[in-house]
Amino acid sequence: MAIKTTRAVGVDIGGTGIKGAIVDLAAGTLLTDRIKVATPAGAEPDDVLDAVRVVLDRLEVREENIPLGVAFPAIVKRGRTLSAANVSDAWIGFEAEHFFEDGLGREIHFANDADVAGVAELRYGAAREQAGLSILTTLGTGIGTAMIHDGVLIPNSELGHLQRAGHKKDAEAWAAYSAMERDELSWEKWAERLQWYYRHLEFLLSPDLFIVGGGVSKHADQFLPLLDLSTPIVPAVHRNNAGIIGAAALAVA
Ligand code: BGC
Repeated sequence: MAIKTTRAVGVDIGGTGIKGAIVDLAAGTLLTDRIKVATPAGAEPDDVLDAVRVVLDRLEVREENIPLGVAFPAIVKRGRTLSAANVSDAWIGFEAEHFFEDGLGREIHFANDADVAGVAELRYGAAREQAGLSILTTLGTGIGTAMIHDGVLIPNSELGHLQRAGHKKDAEAWAAYSAMERDELSWEKWAERLQWYYRHLEFLLSPDLFIVGGGVSKHADQFLPLLDLSTPIVPAVHRNNAGIIGAAALAVA
């Protein structure tokens, strides 16, 4: 009888923190505490690899034969990272999946961080059985997006980099959670920026549902009620753990 894998490790590399946990794939929940280390300054490949090793050591899974999914904050195509908004430029055009596999001495599944969060919400959360177009946005150091249409992920949407007419800063530089912190905005002032952003997405893509992830989604009641949109907007069921859960889920085909 084939043994079905029920556990996998998810590691979610972000612009500010690198988080990991062992995930129960049947339930889509964390089986361990979440381990978090700071993303090394400059986020150079060797330093990020070392930090991922620390996370795996603290989870005591470095030697274990358990599937591992790694999520990264950049465009990821066929294992290569093609952009670098909040990490070192060394990642642009870099064979990142091979780099992690060589450095960790094991296979991994490698994908964009927002896309894997979208997969987590599709399998275990707010996008489950949702018809039409769901757009998950992660509000963190940057803005990541995952587009899911009738249960199918359209990867690498990068809608955090929409340009604002007449402005130098793109959407993420203006409206990410890091912009709220940087500019010391109240919830109301930040919500004005989010209002512009989600309205713009709504106008361009006519979605059926917005899902809001990222660390700040735990405070969703402070800012989602301030938005006036035609599209329903809900927090990610798995909040900031969606990246870990989705990365782990994708590690098992
Ligand atoms: C990157 C995306 C990423 C997002 C969230 C953006 O700056 O371009 O690839 O998903 O940040 O981390």
